[in-house]
Amino acid sequence: MTASAQPSNADQIGSIVERLQGMLEGDLAATEKLLSERAASPVPVIPNLSGYIVSAGGKRLRPMITLAAAHACGGANHGTHALATAVEFIHTATLLHDDVVDDSDLRRGKQAAKNVWGNNASILVGDFLFARAFTLMVETGKISILKILSDASSVIAEGEVRQLAAAGRKDLPTEEYLAIIEAKTAALFEAAARAGALSAGDAGVQHAEALAAYGKNLGLAFQIVDDALDYGGTTSVIGKAVGDDFREGKSTLPTIIARRRGSDEDIAFWDRALDLEQQTDADLAHAIHLIRSTGAAEATIAEAKAYADLAKSALRTLPESQWTKALSDLADFCVSRAH
Ligand code: IPE
Ligand code: IPE
Ligand code: MG
Ligand code: MG
Repeated sequence: MTASAQPSNADQIGSIVERLQGMLEGDLAATEKLLSERAASPVPVIPNLSGYIVSAGGKRLRPMITLAAAHACGGANHGTHALATAVEFIHTATLLHDDVVDDSDLRRGKQAAKNVWGNNASILVGDFLFARAFTLMVETGKISILKILSDASSVIAEGEVRQLAAAGRKDLPTEEYLAIIEAKTAALFEAAARAGALSAGDAGVQHAEALAAYGKNLGLAFQIVDDALDYGGTTSVIGKAVGDDFREGKSTLPTIIARRRGSDEDIAFWDRALDLEQQTDADLAHAIHLIRSTGAAEATIAEAKAYADLAKSALRTLPESQWTKALSDLADFCVSRAH
């Protein structure tokens, strides 16, 4: 085999998601249809703004998890499609709100909606999508599922507020960082997987806890990689501006590890540069340098991989199928995004 015939890492990553998309083709089509139908409103800015962000792409990871979790427990049905749509609406609403809170200019490779319609419209349409998510959940007729996603929604908001409260904190403990990302990100992955399982009926009830553990650990791995990409990625790949976390003065796992491993001079750098009053334009390049030279980049990815492995091992109690294999591969995908 010639070197060029070897699939590149990017090809392998792409193929994991593409294979799952193929397996879920009909379910994803039903979900996309609901995403568009249920964003309808006589108030034009609502479908315009929501259509803008929904059609900008997005990996649809969370609805894929809901759908695949249901299949792993016997099969997806109309209720699963409603849930997958609700999960993506909740995610979209949090992104609209998050870009206002973070003052981020790029999302999914396009200008953030707040730069096109303004902060107020972004927040209000986010609220609309949250509300529409709840209507969809009620349609499943299962109070237990409504509780899972409503609890997750309040936990996400708590995570965002917790992160806000931690902003500017120089020596953020790793435990506090993990508590933040568990709430703001992993809670929705966990709820997506658990709700998908429960939508499948009796077998789903039996395997809901295992799939919830899968979702939670996958969500932790996913956010840790996302935080690594904020320093090591490229805008064209991540569709977001590199260095956004740094410019917000946010401590994340790469900076926490680099600071912990750094010299006194490095610690002084982090303490100054993560203080927004003192940060200069040249600081991002030095931050990236320190994250690489201290090995913090690799240590961050190793931590993500450990959570992805926990996610994969949670699947072991389920009967093996093409769905458990695809969910397991998805955990690998989340880590390989970092390379
Ligand atoms: C972005 O999530 C928000 C985080 C939790 C880091 P995704 O990277 O899944 O966003 P899209 O939906 O693919 O744009
Ligand atoms: C994503 O958080 C938003 C939520 C999980 C609610 P981040 O602010 O870390 O993610 P990006 O980098 O903007 O996608
Ligand atoms: Mg953000
Ligand atoms: Mg944020």
